[in-house]
Amino acid sequence: MKIIQIDPAQYANIVFFTGAGMSAECGVPTYRGSGGIWDKYNWEEVACQNAFDSNPQKVLDFHELRQSLLFNCYPHAGHRVLAALEQKHSGITIVTQNIDGMHQRAGSVNVIELHGSLWRLRCQLDGRIVSDTNAKFKKRKCECGAWLRPDIIWFGDPLDSGIMNRAHTIIEKADLFISIGTSGMVWPAAGFPKIAADKGAKIIEINPDAIDRSKYQHTVYPDKAGTLIPKLFPNFNTN
Ligand code: OAD
Repeated sequence: MKIIQIDPAQYANIVFFTGAGMSAECGVPTYRGSGGIWDKYNWEEVACQNAFDSNPQKVLDFHELRQSLLFNCYPHAGHRVLAALEQKHSGITIVTQNIDGMHQRAGSVNVIELHGSLWRLRCQLDGRIVSDTNAKFKKRKCECGAWLRPDIIWFGDPLDSGIMNRAHTIIEKADLFISIGTSGMVWPAAGFPKIAADKGAKIIEINPDAIDRSKYQHTVYPDKAGTLIPKLFPNFNTN
């Protein structure tokens, strides 16, 4: 596979659109496929408001398990390249479906989190946000006495319209759009590559299972994020 190195100075706005595969080499399981989270757990029992309403402890146990796993996972070379790019170039944005905070841990700041963050809890009643970066939740109830729920988008939850608008605005301005490690199964995020392509962006996909899904992908690299990203941007490889 021929790798064409990218000079970020050639582009005004680069969007990195990331999914669970971006963190797979950190030891964070993806959602789909064998060994995926939704292979092992039924989302209807652990990742929707109904489940939380009927058994909050069970839902919090599941998310606490994920948080404690993440606590011992670390960003890889690909995350670090994205952070280094942002430091040296303007117009670098990460739009992520991930809730693991791995981009920020690598040093990226300009990160739009579409599905929230596992490192925050939110009061069901008064909406108060509690940051919790520990391996285990510090507390499961708000000072007001109501349950705290993970501040993430569960199945059936509405997306945050402010965050979606920010993502749309930046994607429509992109002249390079690099999709990394997503199955493209969850909407509306799955439609982002096409939005960027329709506005004239060059589209690159990085995914070991990539298939040429559509004619709007200009380059497809069937490779792993942690291996391929440093090769695309060798001048920003901090290893
Ligand atoms: P998926 O689990 O659906 O897809 C992960 C993708 O990553 C697959 O296509 C894999 O082939 C690819 N992959 C695996 N290892 C990789 C690697 N080392 N480098 C690059 N790619 C790799 O995850 P998402 O597409 O992120 O929603 O899932 C989208 C949403 O569905 C998630 O945000 C989550 C889930 O339900 C919420 O939590 C709301």
